[in-house]
Amino acid sequence: MNKKFYLTTPIYYINDIPHIGHAYTTIAADVLSRFYRNKSYDVFFLTGVDEHGAKIAEAAKVANQEPKEFVDKLVPRFKKAWESLEINYSEFFRTTNLEHEKLAQDFVRQLKDRGFIEKRKYSGFYCIGCEKYLKKDELVDGKCPDHQTVPKKQTEENYFFLLSKLEKKLIQKIETNEFLIEPESRKNEILGKIRQGLEDVSISRANVKWGIPFPGDNSQTIYVWIEALLNYYTATKIYDKKDLWPANLHLMAKDILWFHAVIWPGMLFALDLPLPKKIFAHGFFTINGQKMSKTLGNVLDPNKLVEKFGADAVRYALLREFPFGEDGDISEEKIAQRYEKDLANGLGNLLQRILVMMNKYNVKFEQVGMVDVIGEHEKEMEENLINLKFSEVLTDIWTFYIKPANELIDKEKPWELAIKDQDKLKAFLNYRYQNLVSISKLIKPFMPETAQKMQNQLKTLKPEPLFPKIK
Ligand code: MSP
Repeated sequence: MNKKFYLTTPIYYINDIPHIGHAYTTIAADVLSRFYRNKSYDVFFLTGVDEHGAKIAEAAKVANQEPKEFVDKLVPRFKKAWESLEINYSEFFRTTNLEHEKLAQDFVRQLKDRGFIEKRKYSGFYCIGCEKYLKKDELVDGKCPDHQTVPKKQTEENYFFLLSKLEKKLIQKIETNEFLIEPESRKNEILGKIRQGLEDVSISRANVKWGIPFPGDNSQTIYVWIEALLNYYTATKIYDKKDLWPANLHLMAKDILWFHAVIWPGMLFALDLPLPKKIFAHGFFTINGQKMSKTLGNVLDPNKLVEKFGADAVRYALLREFPFGEDGDISEEKIAQRYEKDLANGLGNLLQRILVMMNKYNVKFEQVGMVDVIGEHEKEMEENLINLKFSEVLTDIWTFYIKPANELIDKEKPWELAIKDQDKLKAFLNYRYQNLVSISKLIKPFMPETAQKMQNQLKTLKPEPLFPKIK
């Protein structure tokens, strides 16, 4: 039986336009899922959208539509964006799925039955953009620092999830890495915060109508974050995947790590369910040094980038630019530079040159001479990929294989060998050919279409530009 690998992206708020930030996490998940599929794992790759809550209800109101009508219309935007980026997800999750609604209610009911829920009065500052209560010390000049809006002072009676009961258990699972949080620095941050004391979490809303009715109290809905987190689990029931839970990996950015690293495992503990094996919080990126925001008008649209550079180049440039766990900067110019330097003049040029020479000097590939050196490095690169070091893997391929190969052609001057030493020429081209076959395999999870094109051209020996000039 094949081993399973269940990985997830966050479910994105449906009212947002799918932007390059969402694309970043989703591309990373896609690369991993392709890698594990190639390794014959049964991969289940889940992505989707978060459709309930005050934020969506407000957006629907502004659009003068019923919330359900509103969200239905927005789903294709995400699906189209993922299609254009060659995202090969297994299922696209929607939280308005009726089965999810029933399963989420069922989960909350069980929390109640096990004594993990209590009704209490609560008053706090609610930020609709974050869909959460902010503490006073989190506000900057009275505003939410992420959304630059003044949160609403709210007092209501809510149902609370008694997370504080689970503090010790959670610390133990994180410390022993049984529940693995990466990168290490984020894990330490989370541990530090938990040690300051866990508070119980309000998990219902009295004044949000657009949501799943709270079991046993129709006057409230389940807090949107609670049912959103539950998508990872309810999906395993909805798609009837036996033994799929626990997830092997939840991917997200650092903005929503607390929910995934603390509240989510708490909910699972309460029902004695296994925790996900690992969660990884990658960095946040800025655009040309500035925070990406609608107000600044600098939001990068993946569809436009794909139109200009092609899906593979966008996938490559985003994952190559900076290490996955760190913050970084991206811009259209940076993508354009990568396209020209690394892809067109680097990889594309290398393939073109070797194939042109094989044609010109009539060299057919035979397994002679040295064995390809990449084979020996493959294990190391796979290890890096398993550890989500996407940027390192790509940097290695370009630094150790593509760049030196192009330089070697300039140095060895095969066109001179063609006159002097036919055997040497043959060995040279054969070796470089093998090298290209290996490169095509290594880049395949990152750049599936390019890898396929390379493999076709290596078969037919007909060179065609992999990365044409951008108009
Ligand atoms: N709906 C919740 C998630 C629920 S998951 C159970 C949500 N949605 S979101 O639309 O705001 O998506 C947040 C996620 O989008 C981040 O965690 C990250 O994966 C991605 N990113 C959004 N902006 C980003 C950057 N500027 N940089 C990197 N990733 C970004 O939160």
